[in-house]
Amino acid sequence: MTKIELKNVSVQFNQKRRQITAVNHVSLKIEEGEIFGIVGLSGAGKSTVVRTMNLLQVPTSGHVLIDGQDITHAKGQSLGNIRKKIGMIFQHFNLISNRTIGDNILFALKAANYPKNNRQDRVTELLDLVDLSDKVGDYPANLSGGQKQRVGIARALANNPDILLCDEATSALDVETTEEIINLLEKINRDLKLTIVFITHQMEVAKRLFHRVAVMENGEIVEENETFEIFGKPQHAFTQKLVGRHMNLVVPVELEQKFATGVLLELTYLDDHALEPLIANVSRQIPVLLSITHGKIEYIQGKAIGRLIIHVDGEPAEIKRAIEMITNQVDTLTLLGKGGI
Ligand SMILES: Nc1ncnc2c1ncn2[C@@H]1O[C@H](COP(=O)(O)OP(=O)(O)OP(=O)(O)O)[C@@H](O)[C@H]1O
Ligand SMILES: [Mg+2]
Repeated sequence: MTKIELKNVSVQFNQKRRQITAVNHVSLKIEEGEIFGIVGLSGAGKSTVVRTMNLLQVPTSGHVLIDGQDITHAKGQSLGNIRKKIGMIFQHFNLISNRTIGDNILFALKAANYPKNNRQDRVTELLDLVDLSDKVGDYPANLSGGQKQRVGIARALANNPDILLCDEATSALDVETTEEIINLLEKINRDLKLTIVFITHQMEVAKRLFHRVAVMENGEIVEENETFEIFGKPQHAFTQKLVGRHMNLVVPVELEQKFATGVLLELTYLDDHALEPLIANVSRQIPVLLSITHGKIEYIQGKAIGRLIIHVDGEPAEIKRAIEMITNQVDTLTLLGKGGI
């Protein structure tokens, strides 16, 4: 079932001299229970688009639907009820610094009129969920970044929402703490059946956490697919650049110059292809010299994406045969440099 739908949503900001189109005709469907990510560079419009989902940002045009219901023009009580169902966490946690951890969560419960007699139990339950029961009386300043974000998550879940919006929720954290938050979000997604929308510029996080990804550039969604497909077979030039930079298979100029003869090839192979003994097969059947100069296999959603840079040397006709044989066994083959042929 579709949980969140954006229909042709645009957001414009009027500034003194010019008008900025932060979100440009974006249409999206996010399914119930999925972890949906939006990636893109700074200024792409990610925060603005996610803020339309709980109407922190009202679209200039287009429609926002939650559970099939158009909420674009909701106001007052009905807007309040919608927001209760949508929690949100932020890069810099946004905790109240002069209140204890327990009171930070209590504040969210009060604001949403949570039954008074049950509030304290709910605080205990939430801190248990994020494994911070012993911090109830501490102040935010005494917590690590990861712990602060866990409080942020507990607070966002206070009123049992069924959607959690995350705006760069791991961008201020180190690698290990990021992993801890990712694990917690996965647990919440699984156990509470929460739909999660996560925006980030960190491709590492996208790869690890998202089920599906939308790529945003200049206010537009340029590509949308399963995470494995986005990393394995990016279609749009901008996605290819984002993914390429992340995979970091850059051939040093020195390497290209080093090989006076033969060819340098970049290969991508996906999933089952990754398991075939490609190099061994080619060198057994064709008299060429094959050497691997660079390579990496990554697993996304349990499926392999391999990237290799290989040098093939030998008689031009044999090199040609080798390239043909390799082409049939990989998903993409790019000729990076030619030496002697
Ligand atoms: N309230 C505002 N008033 C005017 N312009 C704004 C406002 N909010 C955002 N913008 C502009 O809209 C564009 C998109 O901003 P947005 O914050 O959505 O990008 P982002 O992808 O979240 O970037 P970042 O990764 O840096 O957080 C930018 O050009 C930004 O300057
Ligand atoms: Mg942002």
